[in-house]
Amino acid sequence: MNQRFHFLRFGSVVVDIGAAPGGWLEVVSQTVGSRGKVIGVDLDPIEALPNSNVVVFQDDVTSPGFAERIENEIGKGKADCVLADLSPKLSGVWDMDHYKQIDLCHSVMDMLPEILDLNGSIVMKAFQGNELSDLIQRLKLSFAKFEISKPEASRKQSSEVYLFARGFKGRVAKRETEDEEEKHQYEEPSDLIASDSL
Ligand SMILES: C[S@@+](CC[C@H](N)C(=O)[O-])C[C@H]1O[C@@H](n2cnc3c(N)ncnc32)[C@H](O)[C@@H]1O
Repeated sequence: MNQRFHFLRFGSVVVDIGAAPGGWLEVVSQTVGSRGKVIGVDLDPIEALPNSNVVVFQDDVTSPGFAERIENEIGKGKADCVLADLSPKLSGVWDMDHYKQIDLCHSVMDMLPEILDLNGSIVMKAFQGNELSDLIQRLKLSFAKFEISKPEASRKQSSEVYLFARGFKGRVAKRETEDEEEKHQYEEPSDLIASDSL
């Protein structure tokens, strides 16, 4: 995905939410190099990496104060990129798992103004289903550009997609269910650029 979207660069500060066991962390750490920084966080413990540019800790993205704890780990400034590869514990009932997973994605969206820099980017895994279009709409309204990546192996309805958005505007549109009117104040037709849609 980085070869396609170029969201990771040497020196980038990256927050990886839902990072255990740590496969992405390894790759990101090498890509951002010694000038960069990677913060990996998960409900499950993550084995510390020897790489000096990686910090890991255990935390729940839905818990109060999560964004502040990430801010503290970042230190000065904000992240250039947020990765969210979140999966709830699967029940096997796709609709239920889909709702839970999309809720986790919205939790990440809610905290972006605190942790993601202006013009920053995000890569987010999402389970396909009824709630996906609202999440996509929120991303489109909050970023200058939006793209969706559906790997060949994940084209079924009960499967996952990767959402990529860049050009963070510094604030996020509210969830569809929160406040219809306020959501539209962020809507600018020129901002709604999608290379793909469901
Ligand atoms: C598919 S795994 C991530 C794999 C990771 N990208 C890698 O490269 O190893 C999904 C992760 O989401 C985490 N997760 C689920 N709910 C979470 C929550 N509320 N807060 C933080 N992490 C959560 C799970 O514990 C799980 O480790």
